Amino acid sequence: MEIIKCKSYEDLSNLVADIVEHTLTLPEPKLVLPTGSTPLGLYKELVNRELDWSHVTTYNLDEYVDNTIQEQSYKHFMWENLFNHINIDEDNVFFPSDTAVWPEINYGVGVDLCLLGIGGNGHIAFNEPGSSFESETRMVDLTEETIKDNSRFFPTIDDVPTQAVTMGLKPIMSSKRIIIMANGKHKLNILNVAMNGEITESVPASILQKHNNVKVYYSD
Ligand code: PGA
Repeated sequence: MEIIKCKSYEDLSNLVADIVEHTLTLPEPKLVLPTGSTPLGLYKELVNRELDWSHVTTYNLDEYVDNTIQEQSYKHFMWENLFNHINIDEDNVFFPSDTAVWPEINYGVGVDLCLLGIGGNGHIAFNEPGSSFESETRMVDLTEETIKDNSRFFPTIDDVPTQAVTMGLKPIMSSKRIIIMANGKHKLNILNVAMNGEITESVPASILQKHNNVKVYYSD
């Protein structure tokens, strides 16, 4: 796994936007997209570039299981930060909370580019430590650490949903190209463990060492 040390968060967002822009030149590109703080700069940059998204299909990595949340739902996040501002066809936008899309995600949709963040405990999407490397798209319980990390988006920690639906590690690994985005020194330790440590289900991101086209874009 190669790491690209970016000069700044803006630089990271621009470099990853270049890769997305290049992927959009394919006839029918399929992208997997993350939520969280890290991709915000990327989405802003992509909106500014006014690209043609009419032929693009996107799958989101994960979504909370909780009908009562609105603003914090990942669907809301994606429409607010990206989809409302580009010309994507809403019929080509998929979230794993829609179980009808699971077989498609699991059995070879042919994802051209999968963008990921990485959690402090090494999770990718909501594949928490202990997730099987063979895992497919499914409902999961969130760990205490993830609930705590994500509580910054909610009024109180008790408002954070405890369950989510996530794309599994197997379909993530079947993507042709994978980019991890990580911003901030607090991500350095887990990046080092995931990239250079043992390949183990205790560190879900370590499975990426087995993929032949993964790059990590990191900024302090
Ligand atoms: P972050 O989340 O982008 O908000 O740091 C990453 C993750 O937990 O996957």
